[in-house]
Amino acid sequence: MINLVLFGKPGAGKGTQANFLKEKYNLKHISTGDVFRFNIKNGTELGTLAKSYIDKGELVPDEVTINMLKAEVEKNPEASGFIFDGFPRTNAQAEALDHLMEEKDMKIHATIALEADDEVLIKRLLERGKVSGRSDDQDESKIRNRFDEYNEKTAPLMEYYKEQNKFHSVNGIGTIEDITERLSKVIATL
Ligand code: AP5
Repeated sequence: MINLVLFGKPGAGKGTQANFLKEKYNLKHISTGDVFRFNIKNGTELGTLAKSYIDKGELVPDEVTINMLKAEVEKNPEASGFIFDGFPRTNAQAEALDHLMEEKDMKIHATIALEADDEVLIKRLLERGKVSGRSDDQDESKIRNRFDEYNEKTAPLMEYYKEQNKFHSVNGIGTIEDITERLSKVIATL
């Protein structure tokens, strides 16, 4: 069993790469952003709450996000491993994930960050916003707000995983295939 965290700024390619890695390594892909968007689309109470934060480019509160993540893991008792995309994003979330793994006699094997410059990411997200209609991709100020949230609350987690010798980073610029290959090389060392 292998459990991975895909890490990186908004637009770094976490979702894109998770879709390839889940097939290649037979992992259950859990994207907290996708679960929130599913709930928004279906008008659930969770969706209404999440929307009020997502629309501003802010993080959804920890308690709500952690409970949702736990429920997603519980729904997949047969999974032969997980790829977490967009979780954890705060120290409290990272600690909650470690506790959850411990409870289930599992562990996180690696956190892999996709690295790319802000200007490249902004371009990618504005392009996607045009076709996907994602409310948080619509204008640069919201995207920059997501970067600020990342820098303030999520980037410090790199230290958390470095201290556990679990942190890796790969260049997130290039073709999607090349980047999958770079990630696969890291996974091969685990
Ligand atoms: P979430 O859905 O996780 O969004 P994000 O982190 O902002 O990430 P993105 O989906 O924008 O980017 P990505 O890295 O997955 O890149 P992608 O592959 O899509 O979260 C949305 C919101 O939900 C948060 O802001 C927050 O409010 C809330 N939330 C979620 N998780 C939370 C948590 N744990 N705690 C609290 N709140 C939470 O690629 C982006 C674009 O680039 C695509 O168009 C893609 O086609 C393109 N692309 C990808 N790779 C390449 C490449 N190599 N070359 C060119 N284009 C590429």
